[in-house]
Amino acid sequence: PFVAPENCLLTLFDWSADRIVGLLDLAAKLKCQYRAGECPRPLVGRTLVQIYDKPSLRTRLSFSTAMTQLGGNDLFLTSQEAGLMGREDPSDVARVLGRMADAVVMRTFGQERVEALAADAGVPVVNGLTDEFHPCQALTDLLTLREAFGDDLSGRRIVFVGDGNNVSRSLAIACAKLGVRFTLCSPPDYEFDEAFLKRLRAAVPGARIDHGAMPSRAVAGADAIVTDVWASMGQEAQRDEKLRAFANYQVDASLMNAAADDAVFLHCLPAHRGEEVTAAVIDGPQSRVFDQAENRMHLARALFVELLT
Ligand code: CP
Ligand code: NVA
Repeated sequence: PFVAPENCLLTLFDWSADRIVGLLDLAAKLKCQYRAGECPRPLVGRTLVQIYDKPSLRTRLSFSTAMTQLGGNDLFLTSQEAGLMGREDPSDVARVLGRMADAVVMRTFGQERVEALAADAGVPVVNGLTDEFHPCQALTDLLTLREAFGDDLSGRRIVFVGDGNNVSRSLAIACAKLGVRFTLCSPPDYEFDEAFLKRLRAAVPGARIDHGAMPSRAVAGADAIVTDVWASMGQEAQRDEKLRAFANYQVDASLMNAAADDAVFLHCLPAHRGEEVTAAVIDGPQSRVFDQAENRMHLARALFVELLT
């Protein structure tokens, strides 16, 4: 069996703007129903399998609670337990998963591992974070920005102050698709790589994306300032070097003041207060980080409804 790439969520490159908007509309509707105590259960008898190589709180919980709320079941395995660390051929694992699971979420290191799973599983596969992309987080960030600024985000300006990493790459793709201006503000050695920018411009010819090296200048007038950890999972050995490189890229009150008056602060969490963001900002009035965390669950429910019904 073959599942078309758009029936998986691997990078977001192959999702159209209409599909993204439809998903965000559905997530907002499901959130509203949830608040009113209504929880439709269209996935009774369906099974989600999650396979992780890295730790997770939000991703694992959001997919697990989403599947349970929709009436389905979920199972969690490490890659080791699933047999992906040498016990058997990854393609055989994928084909067995496809016979028993209705969807698979994978969190791992190389993007190619999620793509290989999707190629062979024959059921929708969702990227729960790789070294290169974090598409569920990016969609959630758009949902959170729509709550702050209304459904039409076109023309808004988002500045990501931090590393050109999985989270910022996916957010850049999501913004480009919806006509949102995106600036990566990073030290010169931590910009997006040329191959990524080329792929993004090919996928979204009108993408409004740029780079700034000086935070106070980059955030001037921004609608949202977003950041993430400086050293991602798997980069523990580079931590000291990154702490030095990003020392002038902390999101603090003066940086928030340089953005628009109604600007919001987003961070996918986990956060390090005193490193990429001050406590005053992340725990302050402009921060939407816990709405953003909750929104992972609403987005996950919308995603399963979209992919499985
Ligand atoms: N934001 C996010 O993906 O969090 P976890 O790593 O805890 O899943
Ligand atoms: N960039 C971070 C995101 C964690 C949700 C990491 O990959 O560790």
